[in-house]
Amino acid sequence: MQHEKVLVLDFGGQYNQLIARRVRDHGVYCDLKPCGMTKEEILSYAPIGIIFTGGPSSVYGEDAPQIQREILELGIPVLGICYGAQLIAHTLGGEVARGEESEYGKRELVLEEESPLFAGIPKRSVCWMSHTDRVVSLPEGFARLARTGGCPVAVFGSEQKRIFGVQFHPEVVHSEYGNVLLKNFLFGVCKAKGDWTMKNFVREQVALLRQKIGGKKVLLAMSGGVDSAVAATLVHRAAGENLTCVFVDHGLHRKGEPEEVMRVFRDGLKMNLIKADAADLFLDALKGVSDPEKKRKIIGKLFIEVFEREAKKLGKVDFLVQGTIYPDVIESGKGKSAVIKSHHNVGGLPDVVDFEEIVEPLRDLFKDEVRRVGTELGLPDEIVWRQPCPGPALAIRIMGEVTREKLETLRDADAIFREEIAKAGLMRDIWQYFAVLTDSKTVGVQGDFRTYENVIALRAVTSVDAMTADFARIPYEVLERVSSRITGEVKRANRIVYDITSKPPATIEWE
Ligand code: XMP
Repeated sequence: MQHEKVLVLDFGGQYNQLIARRVRDHGVYCDLKPCGMTKEEILSYAPIGIIFTGGPSSVYGEDAPQIQREILELGIPVLGICYGAQLIAHTLGGEVARGEESEYGKRELVLEEESPLFAGIPKRSVCWMSHTDRVVSLPEGFARLARTGGCPVAVFGSEQKRIFGVQFHPEVVHSEYGNVLLKNFLFGVCKAKGDWTMKNFVREQVALLRQKIGGKKVLLAMSGGVDSAVAATLVHRAAGENLTCVFVDHGLHRKGEPEEVMRVFRDGLKMNLIKADAADLFLDALKGVSDPEKKRKIIGKLFIEVFEREAKKLGKVDFLVQGTIYPDVIESGKGKSAVIKSHHNVGGLPDVVDFEEIVEPLRDLFKDEVRRVGTELGLPDEIVWRQPCPGPALAIRIMGEVTREKLETLRDADAIFREEIAKAGLMRDIWQYFAVLTDSKTVGVQGDFRTYENVIALRAVTSVDAMTADFARIPYEVLERVSSRITGEVKRANRIVYDITSKPPATIEWE
């Protein structure tokens, strides 16, 4: 089905995916595309509106990305954000200049004129600025609409041309009414209907998949993660028993995970789900290995081997399903090729499976949309809200050699941490949280005895895309409960530390 679409042209700023997500949150489908699109390409894409994102360049810079002036003469509404706003002014004959100082952080936005962009926004509110260049004179036919203390032209536009520029970042939460401004652009200026809902998505995808798959055979590697779980459920609706899923149990999963996968998908949804029990194989191969990259390689290679063995039993299949999602396929505005997830869990599968075609039913969806589709399909919260777990799972959360004993300690500690986070209702606020078994032992005292046991580290971060992350400000009371429960209930752990490092300089995982 054809949806109305908005085009988000990516000029390389750090919040660009966020802009696209915000647009979709308003029920309007959009794609994030490299900023070099030509007028012809834009016309054939047929957007109801275009958003130019921010970016690190200065419009007068040597390599600064530009746009064809004709794009602004198509009659399609345009909203430029930060660099995008400066580019509109510059392209149409206005002037942009370097400010003496950068303006960074929260600022008071003062509206000066009426505008369809401002419906429901009070005269004074807080906006989030991050820029050095600024628009100093406007192109003909444009009016100044709002200002901040340090930026006389914080918003400008032409209602008649339906082109607007905002210097601040409406997509970030610190801009109090940013989301309202985006909504006004979509519905007030572009006249969007808002036909992008996950209910529609499921209905359309199932119909499309049914048509495509017919009675043919489909294979999927189920990791237990959100993406493969949702992809499997969606395809299962369309293909029923023609879908076979293979779950490789490598013995490194978090507590209860393999059981839960079997319970939800095989017992509950009656999927054809094969569990390949390979814990011994993996743990034997990991004996004596402490280098994280070596662990990753061993696990990746064995995973493919085990999957291949199972796939061979099925013979030739017609389709291989992959849980690729939209952030994996977006091309960056800086002209880099597609951003590929650096540690793709199932990267090598297409090489070992005899199949005709890859099916990627989630490739248009952001992670939060994947979750909403999961809920729409009736999957339980424990699956839908599961936080990302790396392919090598607990093997890279145990510093040094992986042993059964260490796995047991970490599994129990991690389960307690996750349980307490859930009890405190923080599950959806924290992007990723887990326990790490460090390779340090410390002295402790329990009862009348001196102990010499392991240090468990707790890691919890907030993040948008895992590229950068901040340590989560978990309330002390929650940390206290986790600490006393782990030291009380878990064998071989006598000290708990909380990781207060952001990424960068640290990574999210410890290995
Ligand atoms: P880092 O530790 O690099 O992690 O900040 C960023 C995100 O990637 C996940 N991660 C992995 N995922 N295989 C995976 O599938 C891996 O080897 C791997 N290492 C890190 C990590 O959990 C975080 O979400």
